[in-house]
Amino acid sequence: MSRLLVCEPEYFSIQYEINPWMRLSNSVGPERARIQWQGLMDVLTNKAGARLERIKPVPGLPDMVFTANAGSVLGRKAVPSRFRHPERQREEPCFEQWFREQGYDVTQLEEGLYFEGAGDLLGFPDTWFGGYRQRSDIRAYIRLSEIFGREIIPVELVDRRFYHLDTCFCPLSGGELLYYPPAFDGYAQKVIEDRIGRDRRLVVPESEALRFACNAVCIKQRVVLPEGCAETMALLADRGYEPCPSPLDEFMKAGGSAKCLTLALD
Ligand code: ARG
Repeated sequence: MSRLLVCEPEYFSIQYEINPWMRLSNSVGPERARIQWQGLMDVLTNKAGARLERIKPVPGLPDMVFTANAGSVLGRKAVPSRFRHPERQREEPCFEQWFREQGYDVTQLEEGLYFEGAGDLLGFPDTWFGGYRQRSDIRAYIRLSEIFGREIIPVELVDRRFYHLDTCFCPLSGGELLYYPPAFDGYAQKVIEDRIGRDRRLVVPESEALRFACNAVCIKQRVVLPEGCAETMALLADRGYEPCPSPLDEFMKAGGSAKCLTLALD
């Protein structure tokens, strides 16, 4: 069973600009956002077999819908995020409270040590990768590796459009990696190549990386991704995955898509 934390887009809107996708002038259609979000939930539950857990949306926190940034979870342990931007720091107590109410063993990172949860920390069962520089701090991964007892390989994100690891890097259930190499510095690209054999690396073309093709949710052989990514769907199908596209362009106005709208709880 795959449980995902989600948050309804009731207060989702563009109220500030903290990544290059966000434009105050590009306003969200609330009804469209609601329909697209519900469509994603339907695909996740009916096609991919996920079970949804919800956190109540809070007025004035327009990005709270992106629950990937709530924190990171392993078993009963949870580490809530410490956001880089003050605009999102106001979400921290809400997510922390949710983790505590659910009975997680919560560990807080020291103040000023930025870490944006599963938006930046992703991986395979025993090797994790931590995106840093744009949002999370490289130093956070030393601490997180102690807390979770996992090796975490820091990878530097160098393209402002791919500001969280989950915008350009998606580990798949069969051990393959769907990713966009130019989002990483040369050293990180090497490290990824060393760790993940050539036959396991699925490289997304730039045009589809820019449609958030890597921001996908993989549950067993189903991969839920934003619509409009035909080449990526073909790459996935070729490896035996079933791509499940979902229209999510309202959320791209904030710099997010399928994966950002969920937090994997197990
Ligand atoms: N507007 C949000 C931000 O800039 C989008 C977050 C998307 N989340 C993600 N996991 N990539 O923080």
